[in-house]
Amino acid sequence: MKPILRKFTWLVSLILPLAAAAANPIQEGYRSAAKLESPAFKEFSATAGRRLYTSKKGDLMCASCHTDSPMIEGKHINTNNVILPMAPSANPNRLTNAIKVEKWFKRNCNDVLKRDCSAQEKGDFMAYLLSK
Ligand code: HEC
Repeated sequence: MKPILRKFTWLVSLILPLAAAAANPIQEGYRSAAKLESPAFKEFSATAGRRLYTSKKGDLMCASCHTDSPMIEGKHINTNNVILPMAPSANPNRLTNAIKVEKWFKRNCNDVLKRDCSAQEKGDFMAYLLSK
């Protein structure tokens, strides 16, 4: 093998496992669920996640408590309690505990949208947080 090729192969073998490890396992779970929900499922979209984050239903939206930016601290509109940033890049504990994530999707989607979020919506929302 030419030295340049050998170097390239080595690089790819180094980068591939890193890319695989970067996938969020909770989001991967929603991916399986989204495929079951709709055979037309293609991919999660950070743009659609941003739309959900800022869509008002009545006078409430995700950003009401989580602020317009997932990178900064939010505040609960009823209790005034501080809510730590939602983006994993600003708060590494985010999107690491499947039970916690599912519990709050259930509660907050029902508060805001008056219904459960679909797996597509949950994955989109996560894609937005992970893109920050
Ligand atoms: C009335 C205030 C409020 C609104 C509105 C709200 N949330 Fe939250 N959210 C919270 C609180 C409180 C927590 C839990 C405290 C914490 O984790 O900091 C939380 C936590 C979460 C978590 C857990 C993330 C993790 O890994 O820790 C997710 C996911 C979430 N919210 C999604 C949403 C979505 C989606 C919407 C909009 C449909 C929304 N929230 C709207 C208050 C709110």
